[in-house]
Amino acid sequence: MARRVVAAGYGGPENLRVEDIPLPSPGAGQVRVAVRAAGVNAYDAKVYAADGDPAKLPIRLGYEAAGVVDAVGPGVDDWSPGDEVIVFRTSGAYATDLVVATSALTPKPASLDWPDAAALMLTGAAAWHAVTAARVDAGDVVLIHGGSGGVGLYAVQLALLRGARVLATGGESSHELLHSLGAEPVRYGDGLLDRVRSLAPSVDVALDLVGTDEAMDVSLALVEDRSRIVSIANFDRAPRERVQLLGNGPGADPGTEIRDAARADLARLAGDGSLRVFVGSTYPLAEAPDAHRQILTGHTTGKLVLLP
Ligand SMILES: NC(=O)c1ccc[n+]([C@@H]2O[C@H](COP(=O)([O-])OP(=O)(O)OC[C@H]3O[C@@H](n4cnc5c(N)ncnc54)[C@H](OP(=O)(O)O)[C@@H]3O)[C@@H](O)[C@H]2O)c1
Repeated sequence: MARRVVAAGYGGPENLRVEDIPLPSPGAGQVRVAVRAAGVNAYDAKVYAADGDPAKLPIRLGYEAAGVVDAVGPGVDDWSPGDEVIVFRTSGAYATDLVVATSALTPKPASLDWPDAAALMLTGAAAWHAVTAARVDAGDVVLIHGGSGGVGLYAVQLALLRGARVLATGGESSHELLHSLGAEPVRYGDGLLDRVRSLAPSVDVALDLVGTDEAMDVSLALVEDRSRIVSIANFDRAPRERVQLLGNGPGADPGTEIRDAARADLARLAGDGSLRVFVGSTYPLAEAPDAHRQILTGHTTGKLVLLP
C-alpha cells in the first residue's frame, strides 16, 4: 500500500486527509519513486482554498519531491532502481510513492539531504525565471520584495551570483540571514520607499515576490524601465501597470522552457554549495495541515518540507 495526502473538500487545511491507496505501478516511460521528502509551496494551499467543482475532489497535492527510484516502466533505459532523484514538476507529491514521467527527474546531488533536495526546484525555478526575465546583470541594483520567503531566498542568491547589488525586504527576524547572504535587508511597511532611497538613490530592477500594493508602488516609483519590474504574485495590478507577470494564471508568462532548463543549473549550484537551500521546518506527512497553516501565514522563512 501507499499513502498520500489529498484535499477532500474546499476551504482551509482542515480539509486535508491521509488516504491509503494501492501501490502505483509505472507505465511506459515512467518510474516509481519512493518519496523521502516533498516540498510545500504557498500555491498548494491555494489549490483547494476557493469553492470549486465537487467532482474534482479529492485533489492530489504537491508539485515537487525527492526520493529513490524503486521501479521502472517499459522503455525506461536511463534510470534504474536505487537512483536518487529530484522530481519536478509533478502532481500529487504529498505521498509515500509517486509515479512520474522520466522527464520530471533530475539526479539528486549527493551533497544535498532529502529535505533540501525536495525544497529546491519549484521556488528555485520561479526565482531563476524572475532574475532572467528582469535581465539581472553585474552592477545592477536589484530590489527584491519578500527576500526571505521560499522564492525570495533563491532570488537573492541568484541575483548576487550574477554580480548584482541586492536590497531585500523582509521582517526584522530575517535581516541577519539576508545580511549573511550578502544582501542589504530593508524592513517592509510604511516608509519603505524612503528607506530604499536612502540606501540606493537609483534602482535598476525590482522583483515583487509578495504581491502587495506597497511592493508594486515602490517598484514603480524607483525603476524607470517597466520591463525590469517583475511580479510573480500581483495578478491584479501587474498587467494594468504593464510590468512583467510570471507564472500560471491569466496574462502571465509561465516560462516553462526557462524553468525546466533551470533544473539542471539549480541542482549544480546547490550541489556545489554556491546556492544554499533554507528549510524552515519539516513535518511528518500526516501533519500537512499544520504545514499549510504555517504557509498561509505568509511569514515563513525559507521552505517547508513534508517527510513521508
Ligand atoms: N508566479 C509564480 O510562478 C510563483 C511561483 C512560486 C510562488 N508564487 C507566489 O509568490 C508568493 C511568494 O511565494 P513564497 O513561496 O516565497 O512564499 P512564502 O515562502 O510564504 O514567503 C513569504 C515571505 O514574504 C515575506 N513577506 C510577508 N509580507 C510581506 C510584505 N508585506 N512585504 C515584503 N515581504 C513580505 C515574509 O517575510 P517575513 O516572514 O519576514 O514577514 C516571508 O519571508 C506567493 O504568493 C506564491 O503563491 C508564485
